[in-house]
Amino acid sequence: MKATPTATQTNHTAVSPSSDYNKLDPATEARVEELLSQMTLAEKTGQLFQLNPYGPFDWEHFEAKKAEAEKAGRPFRYDPKLRDDMEDLLRAGRIGSFLNVTQPAVINHCQRIIMEESRLRIPLIVGSDVIHGYRTIFPIPLGESATWNPELLQQASRVAAEEASAAGVDWIFAPMVDIARDPRWGRIAEGAGEDPFLGMAMAQARVRGFQATDLTSGRRIAACPKHYIGYGAAEAGRDYNSTDFSERTLRDVYLPPFTAAFEAGAGSVMSSFNEISGVPATANPLILKTILRDELQWPGLVVSDFESVRELIPHGFAADLKEAARLSILAGLDMEMVSDSYPKHLPELIESGEVPLAAVDEAVRRVLRLKFRLGLFENPYVDESLAEKIMLRPDFRELALEVAQESMVLLKNEADILPLSPETRLAVIGPLADNQADLLGCWALNNHPEDVETVLAGLSAYLPDDGWTHVAGCSIRDESPADIAAAVQTAETADVVLLVLGESANMSGEGHSRTHLGLPGRQQELVDAVAATGKPLVCVLMSGRPLVIPKLAGQVQALLAAWHGGIRAGRAVADILFGTVNPSGKLTASWPRSEGQIPVYYAHKNTGRPASESGTKQFAEAFKSVFIDVPNSPLFPFGFGLSYTNFEYANLQLEKSVLGLEDTLVVSATVTNRGSKAGAEVVQLYVRDLVGSVTRPVKELKGFQKIRLEAGEQQTVRFEVPVCELGFTGWDMRYGVEPGDFKVWIGPNAVEGLAGDFTVSAA
Ligand code: BGC
Repeated sequence: MKATPTATQTNHTAVSPSSDYNKLDPATEARVEELLSQMTLAEKTGQLFQLNPYGPFDWEHFEAKKAEAEKAGRPFRYDPKLRDDMEDLLRAGRIGSFLNVTQPAVINHCQRIIMEESRLRIPLIVGSDVIHGYRTIFPIPLGESATWNPELLQQASRVAAEEASAAGVDWIFAPMVDIARDPRWGRIAEGAGEDPFLGMAMAQARVRGFQATDLTSGRRIAACPKHYIGYGAAEAGRDYNSTDFSERTLRDVYLPPFTAAFEAGAGSVMSSFNEISGVPATANPLILKTILRDELQWPGLVVSDFESVRELIPHGFAADLKEAARLSILAGLDMEMVSDSYPKHLPELIESGEVPLAAVDEAVRRVLRLKFRLGLFENPYVDESLAEKIMLRPDFRELALEVAQESMVLLKNEADILPLSPETRLAVIGPLADNQADLLGCWALNNHPEDVETVLAGLSAYLPDDGWTHVAGCSIRDESPADIAAAVQTAETADVVLLVLGESANMSGEGHSRTHLGLPGRQQELVDAVAATGKPLVCVLMSGRPLVIPKLAGQVQALLAAWHGGIRAGRAVADILFGTVNPSGKLTASWPRSEGQIPVYYAHKNTGRPASESGTKQFAEAFKSVFIDVPNSPLFPFGFGLSYTNFEYANLQLEKSVLGLEDTLVVSATVTNRGSKAGAEVVQLYVRDLVGSVTRPVKELKGFQKIRLEAGEQQTVRFEVPVCELGFTGWDMRYGVEPGDFKVWIGPNAVEGLAGDFTVSAA
């Protein structure tokens, strides 16, 4: 071990949020105290309760409404039945918030009951999951992150906020900022992938977009980064499963995107379902008190996840609902989502002295503060006519196209088969070519499949009607029926086969983990049959996660990862295939060669027995940290993505190679577009701290810039990284930078690039 490290910072220091949600101004504080002083205990606990006003799903009601619509020949959209006791609860001041209600008329009706008939007139705050767009659905967040373009994501999040606000939403349960290194986990779709540094940039962009202060509705929205914390570490990628990682990993890997979201002004945070080393997040004082309040001094609102307070019972952490309430409030959990331990048990817990009133008062203050900040007391109502005017506005749809285009990642393009010429006779094969619903991806609550442009619709912008044929060949997941013979027949007649394959929307997202990450159903069989024709194959692969597709990748000449790309996905695919758009997306999560490698991520440790540089010499490397059957490296690494042009990296320059702790690392390289097309490149900066008081990852992303270069154009890309950002949680659990030798790379992905060296000196 090195000598005692020099810490430049103490443990995570207080955040200085850039929005007013978390600034404690005296005028608001006075209003909060005035109101609090008038509240009964029942009204207080009511404010800490978020209700799902629809109650449990009522199948009988659903079927009756459906039959009614069918009889009247109307298209069927289900408006669930509200709870019978809801109005009484509102009148009595027993509800602080609604979950996932997006009907302005219902919201106004309920707010009116509160504002006109309740004692203290404390408006509801309406929370909803707006994960990648409200009505204008953008690519899934994993795809959005592959743009490596935070400004674009800020605009997309703002569009989501515009539409959601018009639907009556005050509080968006996003961004999902969980670091995810296990593609079996279905929720990898919802976040920005495997890397904390990239995750920080994306988290900030989204929070700023959601919390824009000039929305058309005149209302405001609070963001809610989630799930705090470590939810992505679920064992085996099985959703809701236990997690067990060190406090150091918590601080260095899982926490940074949350801290970044708080810095950007996020008004709230959601606790996660998982336990962390035995203590469920929802009642975990280390994360909710020590880190959030004592260290970060963040004053925002903490809401539980869906019934995660009640779930302390099956976790085996609380014996009953009453204990669950006590443990949660004492740990620092402010608002309970859906389960009702707070309204049921906090009053008696306070009376018995098991919970101090001060703990409840503090939680209520946070709820009231946010409601005041959102302006809900002044303006609790939604303009019921706005939604119709604002949803799917042409500029929103245009932005959805831009994001979809930038999100797609070209993984292979042998012999420059792409872009295609419009003269190419195409056979379009695969279950996702003429599909609308699945392109929306997971978590599109307010989904309208009819809004989606299919790939076939996109192609028709480039090809005459007789320029292509289409056969689905098989369905996405089912083993039968399949029309593989017809697909082969149509392939025979074409110049190029375009395969549009992948997962359905409901194969990723919450509660949708997988163990086999290859093509589902009979799709691989379809590819094998079509490949036997010998025709060139171009594959568009749609998914909610990195897939495991070594065979497919070997069979096709070109491979485009198109994710679940949202309402404009079909057009974006066509724009890339025909070259009006040069692909620029890069992966934000590694694509494994085999499920057995998982977790496979670039920022791994070296181990005491590292594989040789290539990491691929299987049998020759006995007693090294390798597998005997598969290389260590992923099939496609983090940061990887091709373009229709070539970028050359040269001339890595360090302004200084010896730096003090207060200095800034300044490093640059020249990037030249050597091809014949204009294109965008994501230039990435990585560092490695060679020796630490605790072991360090082999590479860590510390900067990126997306640049656009005309053919032949050159740019010197310069990065400035303050040395204090090269720190980590050391042997003593304090954050600091340790003097010593570092390596630095500037390159196109996590495995290639120009390398240099520098030293951080304590002097
Ligand atoms: C999910 C959250 C979501 C909440 C409310 C939960 O099941 O884990 O991400 O915000 O439901 O819908």
